[in-house]
Amino acid sequence: MRKPILFILFLILFFSFLLSFPLQAAEIGKEVKITYLGHAAFRFISPKGVVLYIDPFLMGNPKTPPELKSVEKADLILVTHGHGDHLGDTLTIAEKTNAKIVAMPELGRYLTRKGAKQVIGMNKGGTYTSHGIAITMVHALHSSSVTEGDQVIYTGEPAGFVLRFENGFTLYHAGDTGLFGDMKIIGELYQPEVSILPIGSHFTMDPREAAYAAKLLGSKYVIPIHYGTFPVLTGTVEDFQKWMKAIPQTKVLAVKVGETIQ
Ligand code: NI
Ligand code: MN
Repeated sequence: MRKPILFILFLILFFSFLLSFPLQAAEIGKEVKITYLGHAAFRFISPKGVVLYIDPFLMGNPKTPPELKSVEKADLILVTHGHGDHLGDTLTIAEKTNAKIVAMPELGRYLTRKGAKQVIGMNKGGTYTSHGIAITMVHALHSSSVTEGDQVIYTGEPAGFVLRFENGFTLYHAGDTGLFGDMKIIGELYQPEVSILPIGSHFTMDPREAAYAAKLLGSKYVIPIHYGTFPVLTGTVEDFQKWMKAIPQTKVLAVKVGETIQ
């Protein structure tokens, strides 16, 4: 007599288990559209349609697909540091779209001097909210400068960003960085669901160090970036995935260039 009930219970459990897979996939980004533009460049479209770029190195980026190189609409441009492969087309895009540029004050001053109209200078540990998106600038272990001819112009410290979108979805873009212990604090305090980490080595963490960073951050997902763009960036996704086997609680999202995930 009790057997049919057990069987029905089993069926319910089994189907809810199956259903949880597409739900999990749909949960990624919770309607924030994330498009990888190659190297460290990303475009985010918030649930309300706010268009935010981080490190828009597009025109000169050998990885950016031609159809994504030119930008028609942008509300915010976040720049992690002054190096050309991150600053990229910031000035051109800001002029064309009237987007606000968010950067370290020294880099901001440089951009203002170059003609940028709307620059928001901020610093590590601070949060600036615009269009309902809370932007927190966090530490990065790197350097920051702009090279003009034989001149090296100092542009303050490099940074990473934690973004909290209007629907609560939280993401961490590490910028260019080496591994540092305070990533544990970033993980505990902001609890980013997605962490975007460089793995290319030479200028940043390599796959092994990035996997350690993922362990400190404890995010649900990690997106590896800053590899393969130039021959010197030797880290690979395969190697990263190998190191990430030791951290089963975090999934690797190897987002292809030009691919959009939600
Ligand atoms: Ni750099
Ligand atoms: Mn770089």
